[in-house]
Amino acid sequence: MPYPSYAVVSDEDMQALYAYFMHGVAPVAQQNKESDIPWPLSMRWPLAIWRTVFAPNVKAFQPKAGEDKELARGRYLVEGLGHCGACHTPRSFTMQEKALNDAKGSDYLAGSNAPIDGWTASNLRGDNRDGLGRWSQDDLAQFLRTGRNDDTAAFGGMTDVVEHSLQYLSEEDINAIARYLKSLGAKDPSQAGFQPDDAVAQALWKGDDSKPGAATYVDSCAACHRTDGRGYKRFFPALRGNPVVLADDPTSLIHIVLTGGTLPGVKDAPSSVVMPGFGWRLNDNQVADVVNFIRTSWGNKGEKPVTAHDVAEVRKESFVAEQQGNVDIEKLPQAKK
Ligand code: HEC
Ligand code: HEC
Repeated sequence: MPYPSYAVVSDEDMQALYAYFMHGVAPVAQQNKESDIPWPLSMRWPLAIWRTVFAPNVKAFQPKAGEDKELARGRYLVEGLGHCGACHTPRSFTMQEKALNDAKGSDYLAGSNAPIDGWTASNLRGDNRDGLGRWSQDDLAQFLRTGRNDDTAAFGGMTDVVEHSLQYLSEEDINAIARYLKSLGAKDPSQAGFQPDDAVAQALWKGDDSKPGAATYVDSCAACHRTDGRGYKRFFPALRGNPVVLADDPTSLIHIVLTGGTLPGVKDAPSSVVMPGFGWRLNDNQVADVVNFIRTSWGNKGEKPVTAHDVAEVRKESFVAEQQGNVDIEKLPQAKK
């Protein structure tokens, strides 16, 4: 909880939150559990030091000159209550977010540089390859409200954000957030846009699966994501041109292939969609190959190749074992290779 984002929250909203916690949330008896905040994080006083050193001068939100009401509202929600930067902004080695708002530089919302609970939060700026540059404001609003749009689906840490928070926002607030995010410039304006290329899909249709990872893709993934990587609208996300697939850091991709994911149903999109996990049957080399395959097919140009070692590192994490149904990690297929 050292979220400096909340320092910009207005007095009115802070009072409303206080009233809600004091009167709207019933108390429960709480025993000491592992989930309690452990020492030393349980001490509050070091936060004062952390704040003065790393997050000084955070001021209450002020609309900027020339900013209309909707844009200011979107910026307020993203910088403040939405605390989107807590996951989506890279952190420096002392753990503070590198920028708390766009005025502080283009690191703001440029994507996490270290995984949080095993997921990397993607770039929300206007970058053409791994950011939201190719999404329309409507695509974005749709995604925020329902966790899905025609091409993609929320997964990992983002499903909680949609399920427990964004699905309840008013349409005006969702549109304001989408409009504000679309106003952010690219972190790397030189990124090329996406150019689809059907060569790989053509080869698969002809039965040519000689590209590394292709055979695994056809066996394990194509039933849902299709041989052309376009998925099925609103059910199975497209992998072709998907910014998450093209991000430099492949941790989230390795993670979802190992454990699968569940997009919960929400108010405006009640069906839940599930991707099974493959960690129990694909070894590290196969996972690396299939991830590289989706990053370099159909026009995708993911830059950094994934190695079996990268996969082994993600597989060691406890959340992978838990989501694989508490499988003994030593007994997983990769341990036998
Ligand atoms: C708990 C961490 C966390 C928080 C807080 C969070 N996100 Fe995310 N977000 C993620 C992760 C992880 C992903 C990557 C997985 C995915 O694409 O769903 C993501 C993905 C996204 C995407 C999809 C990007 C793409 O290229 O597919 C959008 C849009 C997004 N977040 C917007 C937001 C907004 C707006 C907020 C604040 C209201 C927010 N997020 C807060 C973790 C978070
Ligand atoms: C049974 C259908 C199914 C199969 C088989 C399947 N997936 Fe998925 N995939 C999904 C669904 C549904 C989601 C969305 C999950 C979520 O939102 O948590 C998803 C999400 C993804 C994502 C995240 C993209 C995004 O924007 O949400 C990637 C990457 C991915 N799958 C890759 C693969 C790979 C690689 C394989 C094969 C090893 C595979 N999938 C097999 C259904 C499937």
